[in-house]
Amino acid sequence: MSEALIERISTGVPEIDKMLAGGIPKGFLVAVVGEPGCGKTIFCLHFINEGIRRGDKNIFVTTEESRESIVRQALQFGFDFPSAVDEGKLVIVDALMRPPDDEFSLSSLDVEDLVRKVIQIKRKLGYGHARLVIDSLSAFWLDKPAMARRYSYFVKKVLSRWGFTTLATSQYAITTSEAFGFGIEHVADGIIRFRRAVRKGMLRRYIIIEKMRQTPHDKRMYEIDIVDGTGLVIVGPTDMRKEDIALPSRVVRQIVERKKASEEEIP
Ligand SMILES: Nc1ncnc2c1ncn2[C@@H]1O[C@H](COP(=O)(O)OP(=O)(O)OP(=O)(O)O)[C@@H](O)[C@H]1O
Ligand SMILES: [Mg+2]
Repeated sequence: MSEALIERISTGVPEIDKMLAGGIPKGFLVAVVGEPGCGKTIFCLHFINEGIRRGDKNIFVTTEESRESIVRQALQFGFDFPSAVDEGKLVIVDALMRPPDDEFSLSSLDVEDLVRKVIQIKRKLGYGHARLVIDSLSAFWLDKPAMARRYSYFVKKVLSRWGFTTLATSQYAITTSEAFGFGIEHVADGIIRFRRAVRKGMLRRYIIIEKMRQTPHDKRMYEIDIVDGTGLVIVGPTDMRKEDIALPSRVVRQIVERKKASEEEIP
């Protein structure tokens, strides 16, 4: 079977690897998408922790938090990022919160700067398979959503030459008039979607693999939980239809309109 030719990368969550018929194909750029607080960053922490365990090189770019905040969150799930940083297995890059000459910080949310920085760090980390998290990639086009697809394509094209397997998160940051996020889904090799809903007065979270090229992946939606000391835990498949926890129609309409506009603007 051709399946045997595909090398798959563990996500760090064994049940999600099973849903992915073994893991993410090496070298893929996978979009991790969803609303705020539903587990995207925590999933990315698992992915990096697994890379550390397996001796990969790891880069975690955060546009949302400081390096210290990422380290603290990781520690809550028992992931020892400080040692990995000391041992040269992990570099955490944050943005817009350090002096401009800081080696591990981005001084602007510019995709070319991002790619340049990531390559520079990869060179330093040395030879070997590398895992990259960009959390979030959508932050790079917050003020120019029409560029989403072009930027995503650029990032994918350049980074693929450097042997990364990449998770790029994308938010639907819905404001009164804009919805961001589209662009990366079309370009990405895979889409892992997180969702949330309140049912019977409780916040519940879900995950579904919406796309994974070259992969006979599970098509069910799974309920997940985030557990202190452990991290992301799969509760089990749900028989709810995706429509049952859809975004409000007003929001969906905004996304569709925004998507249409962005497609019209890009040649
Ligand atoms: N130590 C912990 N124990 C249990 N749950 C936690 C713990 N730390 C965080 N959480 C839960 O995880 C949520 C945050 O998840 P995460 O940061 O992955 O969201 P996200 O999808 O990245 O959101 P955003 O788009 O806003 O960045 C918190 O709101 C909280 O419910
Ligand atoms: Mg996050």
